[in-house]
Amino acid sequence: MAGVGFEHVTKRFDKVIALNDLSIEVQDREFLVLVGPSGCGKTTALRCLAGLEEVTQGTIRIGERVLKLRKFPKPEIDRRVKEAADILDLRELLSRKPRQLSGGQRQRVAVGRAIVREPAVFLFDEPLSNLDAKLRVQTRAQITKLHHRLQTTFIYVTHDQMEAMTMATRIAVMRDGLLHQLDTPQALYENPVNVFVAGFIGSPAMNFFDARLERSEGKLFFDCGTFRVQIPDGRASTFQSYAGREVVFGIRPEHIHDPSFLPPGIIETRVESTVDVTELMGNEVFLHLLAGDRPFIARVDPRTKAHIGERMPPSFDMNHIHVFDKESQLAVN
Ligand SMILES: Nc1ncnc2c1ncn2[C@@H]1O[C@H](COP(=O)(O)OP(=O)(O)O)[C@@H](O)[C@H]1O
Ligand SMILES: [Mg+2]
Repeated sequence: MAGVGFEHVTKRFDKVIALNDLSIEVQDREFLVLVGPSGCGKTTALRCLAGLEEVTQGTIRIGERVLKLRKFPKPEIDRRVKEAADILDLRELLSRKPRQLSGGQRQRVAVGRAIVREPAVFLFDEPLSNLDAKLRVQTRAQITKLHHRLQTTFIYVTHDQMEAMTMATRIAVMRDGLLHQLDTPQALYENPVNVFVAGFIGSPAMNFFDARLERSEGKLFFDCGTFRVQIPDGRASTFQSYAGREVVFGIRPEHIHDPSFLPPGIIETRVESTVDVTELMGNEVFLHLLAGDRPFIARVDPRTKAHIGERMPPSFDMNHIHVFDKESQLAVN
């Protein structure tokens, strides 16, 4: 078992900077997920860690040496194979040839091969991307259980924020070789440091409105052009110094409600809108709305009566607003 440290790691491929001064301290036994859009440097980070690429600058530290594949006596090999097969529910498949296995089974065999070597650190690079949706959810849960059972450091790469949110103990959000934020799933969700992280984590994504913060009669408002919403007094003090400035106002779809089905105790503001599209999810409905020409999405109670073309004023829960500096894109808080 081992922790892993990326210390100011830069990796260049000619003109491309795949990793830009990356520093991450991975704790022993942690399940760290590197997440970000395609091309942000995730695979490069893993390949550098595994020693498959040389870093251009900086160092990568592994607490203990990763175990090399060694010759074990036959009974020891048998024991390890059986144990790995049990963990992964593969025992009945041990006698099969690879081509007799489904995609999901092959994936589990690949993990099994890693388990029998008892490595100090497990590295996964988008292991679920070839599986269908149902198998992906199952395998996701299996990998989480595997981590719990093995109590070993896992470093897992994915472009899928949902995988990151469901499996990680901590998530590193990357873009263009740069680390944007490293924190627990909950902290990332509640306190994204900038517009990119706010929009990347969560689905449907956070709604953003370009706005000007205006002060009028002692109250603060977001002036979004086609509509205006008041910031509750309790939150206003944080943003006073931004009065008169351009900001990005963010609110997640789950914090916009059908006014007929309001959760208790919220501080709400209604925003006159037109329903553009409704999407029934079963347990909830996604409303695509337009406030003037500003599109946004609300995740509302499935009992909603909203229908396409209707005018309605959805309720914004103003206790859950996010504000970002327009220029720096950084959260104001
Ligand atoms: N061997 C290589 N030669 C040149 N450029 C590369 C090489 N490997 C990766 N890159 C570039 O480095 C960047 C990061 O790639 P990669 O780590 O594969 O991203 P990710 O895994 O996040 O999709 C990309 O711009 C990619 O084109
Ligand atoms: Mg990759």
